[in-house]
Amino acid sequence: MHDQAEALRMKMLKAHRKTARSVAIISGKGGVGKSNFTANFSYSLAAKGQKVIIVDMDIGMGNIHILFGATPNHSLKDYLTGSKELQDVITPLDNELAFIAGGSGLETVMEWSESMFDRLIEGFSILQADYDVILFDMGAGATKSSIDLILAVDEIILISTPEPTSITDAYSMMKFICMQDADKTFHIVSNRVIKEEDGRDSVARLQLAMRKFLSAETNVLGFLPDDTNVRNAVVAQTPFVKLYPNSQITKRMKVITESFLLGDQPHTSIETSGFLGKLKSIFRKGRG
Ligand SMILES: Nc1ncnc2c1ncn2[C@@H]1O[C@H](COP(=O)(O)OP(=O)(O)OP(=O)(O)O)[C@@H](O)[C@H]1O
Ligand SMILES: [Mg+2]
Repeated sequence: MHDQAEALRMKMLKAHRKTARSVAIISGKGGVGKSNFTANFSYSLAAKGQKVIIVDMDIGMGNIHILFGATPNHSLKDYLTGSKELQDVITPLDNELAFIAGGSGLETVMEWSESMFDRLIEGFSILQADYDVILFDMGAGATKSSIDLILAVDEIILISTPEPTSITDAYSMMKFICMQDADKTFHIVSNRVIKEEDGRDSVARLQLAMRKFLSAETNVLGFLPDDTNVRNAVVAQTPFVKLYPNSQITKRMKVITESFLLGDQPHTSIETSGFLGKLKSIFRKGRG
């Protein structure tokens, strides 16, 4: 009965939605688990009936495909440079899950041209109509175009570990975004938590700092334990939620996923979704 009610609720949510939630997965300092979170979160969302696409924004050093054990033939760069169409760079995975690879090899690090921005906006408008959720796995290090994209998306999921340095960097990152877009929806996930209370304390401190100094509200989605299964899953090139469905970390990911889906604010048309409009104005401004 409970499952039926849940299925109905999801169906109704989807019926209202005409455009995807655009979500950037970010962190202050790098290496805190963004890509592993993105891969597993996407899988967990898809298991809940959501049609999800990951865009690996770590252009030139993407690793999402490795986490899924997939060998994509083409990457976002091939679409942006016009050598491939959008459908050619989308790699389908299980369920209703797909990704666009960031591409590997340093030689693919590129300067963005005007026509690439036009392709980007055109491509993302197609994705917005086709999917329920677009997850942008942001790479380590902030480039101009990654900051532009972060400012354009509707929602941010910030990954932080309970370490003080990770917390202060996370705060600086959120402050930077908040100063430019006071209306952004911020979610926080604490990763690699060893003691539950440390995880809770660290996000509570972040939340308090955001409220006190920036008058910004943040939504705590949950925490993920530090778990050797993450590494094992990376080696097996399979998301841990799939490989270890009954593990603690998978249970925690489910809580995070449900919490994210509960916070859904259905958009009714592409025009009322902030993402594309913002993307256009940010990129046009950048080009003067
Ligand atoms: N919950 C966890 N428990 C144990 N190890 C973890 C956990 N989350 C991530 N890791 C490990 O941390 C390392 C970095 O993870 P990941 O590549 O996802 O970070 P990232 O934030 O995407 O890095 P970058 O900033 O370079 O893109 C990996 O070796 C991964 O196995
Ligand atoms: Mg990464």
